[in-house]
Amino acid sequence: MSLSRALLSAALCTGLAATAVAEPGVEKIEFGLAHGQPVQQYVLTNKHGLQARLMTYGATWTHMLVPDRGGVMGDVLLGFDTLDPYLKEQPYFGATVGRVANRIARGKFTLDGKDYALATNNGPNALHGGLQGYDKVVWEAQEVERKEGPAVKFSYTDPAGHNGYPGEVKNQVMFTLTDSDELRIDYTASTDKNTPINLTNHAYFNLNTPTNGDVLEHVVTINADRYTPVDDTLIPTGAIEPVVATPFNFTTPKSIGRDVEKVGSNPTGYDHNYVLNARSTPLGLAATVTEPKSGRVLEVYTDQPGLQFYTGNFLDGSLTGKSGVVYRKHSGFCMETQHFPDSIHQPSFPNTVLHPGETFRSSTVYKFRSDRKP
Ligand code: GLA
Repeated sequence: MSLSRALLSAALCTGLAATAVAEPGVEKIEFGLAHGQPVQQYVLTNKHGLQARLMTYGATWTHMLVPDRGGVMGDVLLGFDTLDPYLKEQPYFGATVGRVANRIARGKFTLDGKDYALATNNGPNALHGGLQGYDKVVWEAQEVERKEGPAVKFSYTDPAGHNGYPGEVKNQVMFTLTDSDELRIDYTASTDKNTPINLTNHAYFNLNTPTNGDVLEHVVTINADRYTPVDDTLIPTGAIEPVVATPFNFTTPKSIGRDVEKVGSNPTGYDHNYVLNARSTPLGLAATVTEPKSGRVLEVYTDQPGLQFYTGNFLDGSLTGKSGVVYRKHSGFCMETQHFPDSIHQPSFPNTVLHPGETFRSSTVYKFRSDRKP
């Protein structure tokens, strides 16, 4: 099958418009209005026919078409076909999350002797940047020529005081679909006042595609000997504990389903920050996920110290996503590369305070391959 025919059939079988780009490069599509503001979707296609879609609302990764071991393309991300459901209450599907990803206990912190109050949008705590975090604003976008593959760079200036945070923060997030079959995310940020910052992407993956059931048979390895235990509102206790001999142990390959019921969170499932082992290269392998039926494999590389492994515990069947699939508990999993949750209250955790004159930089690579023998 020619590349363009393969892409067309992939597009049709995943419910995408048949206008999908056939050639490597970038295509821009008008994707609707977010509270009156036009939103664009960028379609990145690499030379192997893999395709990523990203939109300016929330600098959100909406689609990722990758081949299974037989070469059949499938969309491995949870999300929606159209813009409107993204604008309603939904669990950060594919979004860029900031200014501070994950939780800040009680939505309060003190910095440089001044008290700051954030909205408590998750029980008693602040979650994922607040009521209008980076996931709920329209970013500027620019196509970028990179030798690695097609790319789009999103920019957003978070005003001083927005969501209760100090200082104006200028953010850029570049997504590159490399010809090595990776979706590479490069974040930069700068501030005019000391502020906590923690940026991640909240993609939900299902390597067998969400149409084919839950992720419990996915086999996961996480390069972390330790994790940060949490209280019953998912705030770290401050301890850093070994995973060995606990349900959190993914140091050797294990299916998500094997111990998931033994995890004491409410609702049950993994929603924990792993303390990644020290790396010897700028980007270290954080996790590998293999899906036995499709043969798709995901590798996650990052320079961040932590990885929030979340198994879609709050998905409860109330959202219907792409191609009419109802998202239920464990329909997808997230690998959110990050600094540790609630770091602003934990002096022993790696620092998250960015100072004027510094540039925050962070990179994460999601590499896709299959287990097909060459
Ligand atoms: C993160 C959190 C989860 C949940 C999801 C969004 O992964 O750790 O507890 O809030 O975001 O639903």
